[in-house]
Amino acid sequence: MPQKALITGITGQDGAYLAEFLLGKGYEVHGMVRRASTENFERIGHLRDRLTLHQADLLDQLSIVNLLDGVQPDEVYNLAAQSFVPTSWLQPLLTGEFTALGVTRMLEAVRLVNPKIRFYQASSSEMFGAVDREPQDEQTPFYPRSPYGVAKVYGHWITINYRESYDIFACSGILFNHESPLRGKEFVTRKVTDAVARIKLGLQKKLLLGNLDAARDWGFSGDYVRAMWLMLAQDEPDDYVIATGRKHTVRQLVETAFSCAGLDWEKYVEVDPALIRPAEVHNLLGDASRARAKLSWEPEVSFEQLILMMVEADLDRVQRQLDGRGPEPAGYTAWQNK
Ligand code: NAP
Ligand code: GDD
Repeated sequence: MPQKALITGITGQDGAYLAEFLLGKGYEVHGMVRRASTENFERIGHLRDRLTLHQADLLDQLSIVNLLDGVQPDEVYNLAAQSFVPTSWLQPLLTGEFTALGVTRMLEAVRLVNPKIRFYQASSSEMFGAVDREPQDEQTPFYPRSPYGVAKVYGHWITINYRESYDIFACSGILFNHESPLRGKEFVTRKVTDAVARIKLGLQKKLLLGNLDAARDWGFSGDYVRAMWLMLAQDEPDDYVIATGRKHTVRQLVETAFSCAGLDWEKYVEVDPALIRPAEVHNLLGDASRARAKLSWEPEVSFEQLILMMVEADLDRVQRQLDGRGPEPAGYTAWQNK
């Protein structure tokens, strides 16, 4: 019998990479999707006939219980969340419902349906926020700086609490920023690589950005979903920082991305004060020593390779649209082999 995995957030960036990774490992993969008036399966289109999708919602406890009861998964990966930091100031209550209480609803369903299910929670380096030390590891105190970060701290601790209270195999992956050609276009890496492609191909003239001095430890989503799976494959549950150990500023990101297309970024980029956040996380740099030692996990894609991969993918996509050939289905294998 193949192992059965259920992924919430399967239509998101990480959901698509994880689904493809688990299918490659021989898993039977199920995905939770919320009802929408039009289907939003762009990122998993190339996997569609190998997945089983079920409607449920993080806001609806009974739908989650029924889903777990029907699927009877061995592993649950809880990736669903309101994940865009600026939106969390505009919709703080909804962010709390999805990103914080949604985790309790998932854990309650595991506890009620089958406490032997292995559970992965998508925690975030955004929990570290206003850091007082560098690099950050599993012992670094949290000081979240956005309603999103605060909600993720709740999700992190409730995961630990269910592990300690009910002996559930629950792991929390504290993942630093990770990106890919499937990244949402509002996040800074993809906003930049999409703009580079559009500027190069004559469709855009300027790129407006916020804080160019913010620094992040950026890795590749395809590497990070492998770490999620490794966490659930251990003998004991634990929490792990996943990061590359290298950081770059937004300015360096912009410089790298524009130079991939032979462009001088200073001719195109302008700072828009409206994009500065009410409270900023200025610096994040992770120390993934525990993951290296216990999971034998290593990132395989460097920052420079990642940005080049994203610029090439966006150039290809925009060119295809200009040629009237439509978007290329972009999955893990497609871009990994580039
Ligand atoms: P993403 O692309 O924004 O995907 C979020 C997913 O959550 C989408 O599939 C979305 O579905 C789903 N979702 C949102 N609200 C839902 C609800 N009420 N019920 C059911 N599904 C819902 O995020 P990502 O980058 O893949 O990140 C995956 C997870 O890791 C998130 O929890 C994020 O906060 C966390 N994380 C991400 C990073 C990173 O750098 N990428 C770092 C640390 C932690 P729709 O398609 O219907 O909107
Ligand atoms: N989005 C965006 N747009 N960010 C900008 C811009 C812009 O125009 N200009 C500068 N930035 C800066 C932000 O102020 C922030 O410091 C940095 O770029 C990264 O922003 P995002 O790419 O939006 O990511 P994030 O760090 O806020 O959050 C992501 O990473 C977290 C892990 O640390 C998201 O994926 C979260 O879901 C995730 O938990």
